[in-house]
Amino acid sequence: MAFKLDPEMAHNLGMDLLAKIPGPASTIWNQNDLNEKYAVNLNCGLKWPFPVGLAAGLDKEAKTIDFFSKLYFGAIEVGTVTPKPQEGNPKPRLFRLKKDESLLNRMGFNNAGMMTIKQNITSSSTNGKILGINLGKNKTTSAEDAKQDYQTLYREFSSIGDYLVVNVSSPNTPGLRDLQAKESLEEIFVCLENVRKENPVPLFVKVSPDMAKQGYEDVVELSLKYNLAGIIATNTSIMPERGLGGVSGELIKKKSKESRKYLLDLTKGTNLDIIGVGGISSFQDVKEFWEAGGKVVQVYTSFIYQGPALLKEIKCEIDNFLKDQDVSTLNEYFMKRIDS
Ligand SMILES: Cc1cc2nc3c(=O)[nH]c(=O)nc-3n(C[C@H](O)[C@H](O)[C@H](O)COP(=O)(O)O)c2cc1C
Repeated sequence: MAFKLDPEMAHNLGMDLLAKIPGPASTIWNQNDLNEKYAVNLNCGLKWPFPVGLAAGLDKEAKTIDFFSKLYFGAIEVGTVTPKPQEGNPKPRLFRLKKDESLLNRMGFNNAGMMTIKQNITSSSTNGKILGINLGKNKTTSAEDAKQDYQTLYREFSSIGDYLVVNVSSPNTPGLRDLQAKESLEEIFVCLENVRKENPVPLFVKVSPDMAKQGYEDVVELSLKYNLAGIIATNTSIMPERGLGGVSGELIKKKSKESRKYLLDLTKGTNLDIIGVGGISSFQDVKEFWEAGGKVVQVYTSFIYQGPALLKEIKCEIDNFLKDQDVSTLNEYFMKRIDS
């Protein structure tokens, strides 16, 4: 039924309902599950209670943290938040590519601005889950001033987020992806140095799947130089033949996976963690990411198509996987992986 409505209207209705109605009991996180079995330790000190998180963009305004954190999500990433409220692009701006289990969106960081979102966060409960906050510049902020937006946002959110994300990879804010270029990105990291010293919190940078290899090499170099916690790979991809905006889901699986693989190879032996996102839709995808050297992932589009059952299924598959691996916790598997 929800799939017959306009996608954004269905999305908003769904979010309102989700905020009020609990899902099927079997998809609800049981506090007994808050044990070591599914927990994953990242190098930056964060401990995700489950290896799958909710990607940015679904709970843009942090209105539904209470609900999402009751599902089998190990982390909830809210945002993108901009300093000032903004409406985003004209509607329609969210489209289902149903045959391909994908989405096309050109939302453009519609959000209520940092002050409202901060209030929403502080009045929510994360139920022991990790909270990420994804930061972006306002559309009206010039490229030269973008760093100030990130600094302002860092200052506002560093005391309430478990991790923060510099988002420079959405295709829907004109010029945003240019900030991924080495010089521009370095300016942002330099501008963040002082506020990070005042209140250190793990900081990630989120990248696009459309970058050339050199681009990823530059991001890794800067992430090491400025002591980031890691890289979130990837955001949506541009596919002009599908329309204006960013594509997510199955259609970007291959491209996104290649970007992640390249980043995992580049960061092997460093303290950087790669958070995998883009076309992840099954335990098989999670397992492949583990085998390539990663630990935690996020989902968006597959969650829209499959709902909370996706997480429940991944949980069951993890149970089988741990038995096959002859270990009792995921952290034990990751240790064993390093040793072998
Ligand atoms: C409708 C929609 C809105 C999104 N909004 C954001 C956003 O505000 N900030 C962000 O960093 N990523 C955003 N994303 C990107 C997702 O977080 C994710 O990186 C991307 O969709 C790839 O993952 P997926 O294939 O599991 O959907 C959005 C994606 C969709 C489909």
